[in-house]
Amino acid sequence: MLKKLITLKNPKSRTAEAFRTLRTNIQFSSLDKVLKSIVVTSSGSGEGKSTVMSNLAITMAESGMKVILVDCDLRKPSVHKKMGITNSIGLTNILVQGVKKEDCVVKTEVNNLNVLTSGPVPPNPAELLGSKKMRDFIDELKKEYDLVLIDAPPVLAVTDAQILSTIVDGVIFVASYGEAQKNALVDAKHLIDKVGGKILGIVFNKVPEAVTGYHGKYYKGYYGNDN
Ligand SMILES: Nc1ncnc2c1ncn2[C@@H]1O[C@H](COP(=O)(O)OP(=O)(O)OP(=O)(O)O)[C@@H](O)[C@H]1O
Ligand SMILES: [Mg+2]
Repeated sequence: MLKKLITLKNPKSRTAEAFRTLRTNIQFSSLDKVLKSIVVTSSGSGEGKSTVMSNLAITMAESGMKVILVDCDLRKPSVHKKMGITNSIGLTNILVQGVKKEDCVVKTEVNNLNVLTSGPVPPNPAELLGSKKMRDFIDELKKEYDLVLIDAPPVLAVTDAQILSTIVDGVIFVASYGEAQKNALVDAKHLIDKVGGKILGIVFNKVPEAVTGYHGKYYKGYYGNDN
């Protein structure tokens, strides 16, 4: 199942190359402060957040960084599906029941890539994600891993991504070409800005080859510090 992800299935593809470019841009996007935790969001649903984050996690791990991908979409979790693992136990078990993280974190077949699935969907996602326990947990992960990548719901739908943006070092937006509306993107950026989240850039996804001419379906349209 993991092999279905393009960066593993076809590492020589333009798409995999685009992910390596994205990796380099992230690594260089913050020279004065090391980026150790990043959350992904989008304005609307289905724009490709979980897919992009899963491929980015693989690409980062391939560069030798010890990476953990955490599914913080506690409403519609999907990282386990992308990674081909079960979601019987995960983040919510750690936060709510005090289960040890060692019992929940899964090592993948990709060297250096670890995954923490969401665990059972809770009735109060925003409350859990905004808790001190959650903040402390992310800090703990940052000590243990070189990079903590976090999947989240769309920011216009619920407050979860906004909350998460306040406990990580940076936010990546995924915008689906032809789906994301300009107004929605502006509103989404405003919501992250409002809580002081640091937007690293936008990944334009599902861009038709005819449009990019070169980059394939995934296209890093803009990435920079001057958000
Ligand atoms: N570049 C791409 N080319 C083709 N299909 C894609 C691409 N990116 C994502 N998809 C597909 O689009 C669908 C939505 O992707 P994904 O689940 O990653 O989006 P999401 O933003 O995480 O959605 P949600 O808001 O529900 O969490 C999936 O079926 C995925 O396989
Ligand atoms: Mg998703």
